Amino acid sequence: MNVLVTGGLGYIGSHAVLCLLKSGFDVTIADNLSNCDISVHKRLEELSDKPIKLYTTDVRASLSKIFEEDKIDAVIHFAALKAVGESIQKPLEYYDNNVYGAINLLETMSHYGVKSFVFSSSAVVYGDSGLPYREDAPVSAATNPYGQTKIMIENILQDLYRADNSWHIAILRYFNPIGAHESGKIGENPVGIPNNLMPYVAKVASGELKELSVFGGDYSTPDGTGIRDYIHVCDLAEGHIAALNYIANKTGAHTWNLGTGKGYSVLEIVNTFINITGVQLPYKVVARRAGDVPVSYCDPSKAQHELGWQATRTLTDMVKDTWHWERARTADERL
Ligand code: WQD
Repeated sequence: MNVLVTGGLGYIGSHAVLCLLKSGFDVTIADNLSNCDISVHKRLEELSDKPIKLYTTDVRASLSKIFEEDKIDAVIHFAALKAVGESIQKPLEYYDNNVYGAINLLETMSHYGVKSFVFSSSAVVYGDSGLPYREDAPVSAATNPYGQTKIMIENILQDLYRADNSWHIAILRYFNPIGAHESGKIGENPVGIPNNLMPYVAKVASGELKELSVFGGDYSTPDGTGIRDYIHVCDLAEGHIAALNYIANKTGAHTWNLGTGKGYSVLEIVNTFINITGVQLPYKVVARRAGDVPVSYCDPSKAQHELGWQATRTLTDMVKDTWHWERARTADERL
């Protein structure tokens, strides 16, 4: 089975590509290179020992060439803008890139009769509904345009299936993916200053950034800092294979949380990082970040029961793999 992976050179996309190839799938990648390094392509071919067709294109451009040249059986759609704060500053860019991009991709798929689609959604759709987050919870009007784009696309997918029930759709709501592949060859390396906690921590630890700002120390949590459901990116990637296999012979628009069901606070992450790596990690507690919810973690049981999938890697694994990647990446950059 040949899977088109949009955003396949990005952080989560690249780990999913490697997992697909190791699971016997063939992969074609479409990526506009806006938040990744082109060298990831070669590293994926080396890691998998397989050729990977790459189309450097934006999902808003014509995608017919891909479907004309390659036999595409299914699509996993990662390509999107994903910074909450940036989306508040640039809403039109987020609606155009994320929503129109998804519509263009789905229209092309429909034209070529390709109707298996895995969508990268996010825990952000839950807003501040009751914990733990369950898939049947009402998705709120998310507090930012990024979250709105995820809700809109989920609704588009539900409407698409209602109009044409020959679609096989998986909507995957990610919690907080961190970590890196054990090889240290791929990992998270966002362009510019990281928005997310773990890549920022890693760059402070490696000396690339001076000090971590802990956004808020006055939440009603045990240590006052925000709690999130961190999941190893390789567990997340394996969840995509499980979802792809599930929808292979099932139509419908199915939604699953991909998380561990366990929450860790910012200071727990920081202290775990210091204890495991032995590095100093200067930080200061500052004001809360606009748009943050205090606590977010999921009930992962639906994916466990229906997909036969659950996260297995521990926080220690996530920190160790993050640090292994960070040291390998910075060593390469010094060459
Ligand atoms: C985690 C915790 C911050 C940075 C977002 C999106 C979500 C997904 C993941 C795309 C929070 C704190 C962070 C920092 C900090 N995006 N923090 N200092 O906000 O839970 O989720 O990214 O798929 O959809 O909403 O992740 O890593 O930004 O924050 O204290 O420099 O770390 O306040 O408590 P978040 P995050």
